[in-house]
Amino acid sequence: MTAVEETLVLVKPDGVARGLTGEILRRIEAKGYQLVDLRMLQADDDLLAAHYAEHEGKPFYQPLVDFMGSGPVVAARIAGNRVIEGVRTLIGSTEPTLAAPGSIRGDLGRDWGLKVQQNLIHASDSPESAARELALWFPAAR
Ligand code: RTP
Ligand code: MG
Repeated sequence: MTAVEETLVLVKPDGVARGLTGEILRRIEAKGYQLVDLRMLQADDDLLAAHYAEHEGKPFYQPLVDFMGSGPVVAARIAGNRVIEGVRTLIGSTEPTLAAPGSIRGDLGRDWGLKVQQNLIHASDSPESAARELALWFPAAR
């Protein structure tokens, strides 16, 4: 038996603005994963700099931080066996143009010709990322 894991999902500002929050969370719940915690917030620069530290210095870094701070996001804590891999499979590859049909980015996303890909959803990509990101977006003190 695999241990129950948790992952961080963010419905990005484009997903919230397009009214796709419910559809995105529906797909994750319909797969069978459990929604454990949920919050809507406007991310500030400090939070986004910490979240995207691995991308600092890349050409899309500042456009990415600007995009992620451009409107509210919905953060979700999701639980299940192998949920980290499973949600990465559900979301599809980074570029919505290339993401497989049937995936969230493949079905609901497209390229808008911008400096950064607006691809609706973030999901943690490893156990280390999940632990780090959940602590950032769901701090113990409320
Ligand atoms: P995420 O972290 O948001 O779950 O996405 P990911 O792992 O599929 O992609 P990653 O390489 O971590 O990049 C983070 C986000 O930056 C934007 N991006 N745009 N060339 C581009 O236009 C470009 N490259 C990356 C996307 O929003 C991507 O999800
Ligand atoms: Mg990533």
